[in-house]
Amino acid sequence: MSAPLQAIRGMNDVLPEEAALWLAFERTVENWLERWGYRNIRMPLVEQTALFRRAIGEATDIVEKEMYSWRDELNGEDLTLRPEGTASCVRAAIEHNLLYDGPKRLWYAGPMYRHERPQKGRYRQFHQYGAEALGYPGPDVDAELIVMCARLWHELGLEGIRLELNTIGSPEERARYRADLVQHLEANAARLDADATRRLHTNPLRVLDSKNPMVQEVVARAPDMKQYLGEASLAHFEGLKKLLAAAGVGYRINPKLVRGLDYYNLTVFEWISDRLGAQGTVCGGGRYDGLFEQIGGKPAPAIGFAMGCERLVALVALSGCLASPRRPDAYVVHQGEGTLEVAFALSDALRAAGFAVVQHAGGGSFKSQMKKADSSGAALALILGEDELRAAEVTVKPLRDGRPQWREPHAALAERFPQLLRVR
Ligand code: HAM
Repeated sequence: MSAPLQAIRGMNDVLPEEAALWLAFERTVENWLERWGYRNIRMPLVEQTALFRRAIGEATDIVEKEMYSWRDELNGEDLTLRPEGTASCVRAAIEHNLLYDGPKRLWYAGPMYRHERPQKGRYRQFHQYGAEALGYPGPDVDAELIVMCARLWHELGLEGIRLELNTIGSPEERARYRADLVQHLEANAARLDADATRRLHTNPLRVLDSKNPMVQEVVARAPDMKQYLGEASLAHFEGLKKLLAAAGVGYRINPKLVRGLDYYNLTVFEWISDRLGAQGTVCGGGRYDGLFEQIGGKPAPAIGFAMGCERLVALVALSGCLASPRRPDAYVVHQGEGTLEVAFALSDALRAAGFAVVQHAGGGSFKSQMKKADSSGAALALILGEDELRAAEVTVKPLRDGRPQWREPHAALAERFPQLLRVR
């Protein structure tokens, strides 16, 4: 026998126990998105590599070393498995002229792919929910997106997720800041590590969030971005902060927060939990007013965020707050000539009436079927033997509440079923 094949490193199966929690999480999130007026959009998992290069930026970790890219030899296209959703969402908005009649609030969900070093909370295939408000200059919608997240954490029963906020100004302001930052870093070149030295000329802003204490010490003395902001950028930030305060959403301003994608301007933010270890950022986002133009569209202001489902589901599991998965209402046990067909009909009728019914499959003794009924978590076993069949009845056996069993006629069973479930 050959060795069994395994899943690819960093790409996980979600087994039924855990998947039940995912489903509860997804239902809550999708309901919340729709209630805030965001509409679903679905984009392909594969895009032209050029889209991500142009949108995310050549000098980012994602584009430099984390993309799953290949050449499709059949038609000579360079393709990439999407590492994030914003670029595709904006591409789709441009391609289908979605903003022709005004701004749009959109959401998407699904797997993203980044060839990172896997560890707890960091995977090569991971899932995001993303929300993008396209065509809105803000800062009202900036506040909306952030407050929305705060309300979701509450709905999910999650506490202690803190908000870090920053503004990185306009591209012009950032260019001036960047020039001074590079000068400062060059003057301290001896204290930079290999990573910071490499980034010094490609993406110096990323040096700001270096984790190396020696580099951090250089960064602490670096020029302050705030000094480079013009009136409009400052007013945008002040407007946002005022709305957050009015909504009672607390935050910490982190002047070193720059995010790992190049399309941002003005508002950037991250939501962070301390309960997840090193990979504690559960949601990140910001404004990207230049992106439409950058990938060939008419200019349009926009802002959005994406949250990491693996990390949030892990938090939800820790908090134990989301409802447990739905257990079957009934497990149908059947044995004897002619009982299977009737079992099918009864199960069918109950499901059509909205009840969760598992019908035993695969044969086996009455005793083993009853064992399965019990371990299914069902409230009732509906037993159909030859005896019951002759009388056009089923035996109803409560499995959870100690009531004695009794018989019920087949006719109109679905209508009487709510009473059968109830403890008498
Ligand atoms: P991002 O910060 O790269 O932003 O990812 C957003 C979230 O996805 C992270 O905060 C994290 O929770 C999760 N995440 C990222 N990488 C991984 C990974 N390797 N394993 C597990 N979870 C991960 C974006 O993707 C932007 N598109 C967000 C955005 C939307 N900005 C504006 N609109």
